[in-house]
Amino acid sequence: MDSLVITRPDDWHLHLRDGEALTHTVPATSQAFERAIVMPNLVPPVTKADQAEAYRRRIMASVPAGQNFDPLMVLYLTDQTTPEDIDAAADSEHVVACKLYPAGATTNSDSGVTRLDALTPTLERMQERKVLLLIHGEVVDPHVDVFDREKQFIDDILLPLRSRLPDLRIVLEHITTSDAVQFVESAGENTAATLTAHHLMCNRNHMLVGGIRPHYYCLPILKRSSHQQALQDIVASGHRRFFLGTDSAPHPIGKKESACGCAGCYTAPYAMPLYAQIFEDLGAIEKLEAFSSLLGPAFYQMPANSGKIRLLRQETQIPDRLELGSDTIVPFLAGESLRWALDTTFSDGQEG
Ligand code: NCD
Ligand code: ZN
Repeated sequence: MDSLVITRPDDWHLHLRDGEALTHTVPATSQAFERAIVMPNLVPPVTKADQAEAYRRRIMASVPAGQNFDPLMVLYLTDQTTPEDIDAAADSEHVVACKLYPAGATTNSDSGVTRLDALTPTLERMQERKVLLLIHGEVVDPHVDVFDREKQFIDDILLPLRSRLPDLRIVLEHITTSDAVQFVESAGENTAATLTAHHLMCNRNHMLVGGIRPHYYCLPILKRSSHQQALQDIVASGHRRFFLGTDSAPHPIGKKESACGCAGCYTAPYAMPLYAQIFEDLGAIEKLEAFSSLLGPAFYQMPANSGKIRLLRQETQIPDRLELGSDTIVPFLAGESLRWALDTTFSDGQEG
């Protein structure tokens, strides 16, 4: 197989950042993806529907001429988010979900939620108005080991939440453990998960053996290989509630290569070649299209895209550095090459 034409995919978990970064991050995604769930962890965070709509307009200004790109917007939940904020989101044109960051769990999560129980009326309104809940599933208790934070969140927070609000549609984002796979499998039709390329491709040895490699550091942190295997097995099985979310999250080189480095891997420019290589290595290339382009829309209750993209069996060389405005970024797998490439001349991909 030398080329692969699939339905134009969507990225169900993406950090585009803001300002001049958008002129790079938006085309990097829109070259391959039609829609993206745009994470709201800006500084300050996107907490209101009108802020989300204004952010979307800034994003749209960076979409290259002739490309279709439809950013799907997300509100950042805080302890102050009210049911009225949810109504405004549900009534807005482009906000489809709210993101739960336990306060302090990850990059720019300081304004996140400290007491989820106090937010029950807000979550009930989300259930009623069909606004999805997207979750960064890690506890922040300093006594809980960083490798156990996802499982602990599932046990302590998610299981009770799931049974309290059975009709709320929940996506557990960027899952990293066999515990998360089992939870989502058994949680029923209203629970799904996104999977990143880096968590499918790597385990914690990639980050820690032979030297500490900050460009593999993301949250939730890479786990041991048995967890990676569970993620690979579930996507290779084609389970319909596990789909693509890159969690592409650029940080300037100085903030990654630092005594206290930031979490996040920048994968957007090479996302589809990365996933194609992963699925091919799993012997499941025939499952790539559903994972990338069909299962996400089905869970979000949206139509699949009508356009197509073409991937070619051709080397993609990932550069050592990328310039994003005045920032230098080291992309994920910098200096390495992939066996697949996105055919940027394939015109059907532009037609939506
Ligand atoms: C993300 C970021 O940099 O915004 N970082 C990460 O490691 N994934 C935030 C997030 O999704 O946790
Ligand atoms: Zn993220």
